[in-house]
Amino acid sequence: MTATQQAPDQPIRSLPAAGPAVKGLTPNIDVPAVQKRPRRPAPWPLDLYQTAVGKKWVMAVSGAGLMLFLFAHMIGNLKLFLSAAELDEYSAALRELLYPILPNTVFLWIMRAGLIAFFAIHMHAAYSLTVMNHRARPTKYSKRDYIAANWANRTMRYSGVIIFAFLLIHLANLTWGWQFLDNDQWVFGQVYNNVTTSLSQWWLAGIYIIGQLALAPHLFHGSWSLFQSLGINSPRLNPLRKGFAYAFTAIIVIPNLSFPIAVVTGAVR
Ligand code: HEM
Repeated sequence: MTATQQAPDQPIRSLPAAGPAVKGLTPNIDVPAVQKRPRRPAPWPLDLYQTAVGKKWVMAVSGAGLMLFLFAHMIGNLKLFLSAAELDEYSAALRELLYPILPNTVFLWIMRAGLIAFFAIHMHAAYSLTVMNHRARPTKYSKRDYIAANWANRTMRYSGVIIFAFLLIHLANLTWGWQFLDNDQWVFGQVYNNVTTSLSQWWLAGIYIIGQLALAPHLFHGSWSLFQSLGINSPRLNPLRKGFAYAFTAIIVIPNLSFPIAVVTGAVR
């Protein structure tokens, strides 16, 4: 008898069970179910990013980086109220940062690369957290759940999309000088001129105002949940967190709103 033959009085042996058996096409033959190999964990620190807690951490840290940028950017833009020379010199100084240790604009590009990385990571974490939440709860939220989560929280993804759209228009307008935005007077390095000639157009000023109105709830909820995501959420600290969220939002959004309003009304020309 060969190894593959069986004695007639013995029952037909099925293949070794590698999982729950399913009936094959041929009668009386059991076929083991194909089992997926468990996903190999990603190396550190990517394995942390596969969890909801890790993604929240990444959102909080990249969000904090973006908040620092917004603060520095708003302080720099306040020079619009001083003079054309002050604003233009400030912009030139940014390009010359760390010169002559590094060639002109090299340090600025390093900061830009960091900023782009923060934006990209922040948006990816937001997207994958949303996908994760949908997988965990495919049914829609009930009215009661909506009451529990506040308005700023629920609208984060919409305000985020509006801010991103604003950012693209803003860069095309003031950094790249794209002509389809009625930027025919845009001159590289003449920042004051570029801001005043473009924001004196009511529709462009309107886009800036809408961008800042979307930024307000996003910043408020972001600066409130930042500490919670990092694990700092004792109820004793809640009034402090709320105060910080209100103050930070006002410090950024009020001056940012004042720039297009001042230019479009002719207060700055
Ligand atoms: C409404 C108020 C704002 C005004 C008046 C303003 C003004 C400016 C100006 C004049 C520049 C060009 C600077 C230069 O060429 O040296 C600039 C660049 C930039 N702005 Fe704004 N900005 C405003 C709001 C924002 C907001 C809310 C964001 C982010 C969401 C933002 C992100 C940027 C970025 C990423 C750059 C490019 C920086 C670079 O090229 O190094 N700005 N902004």
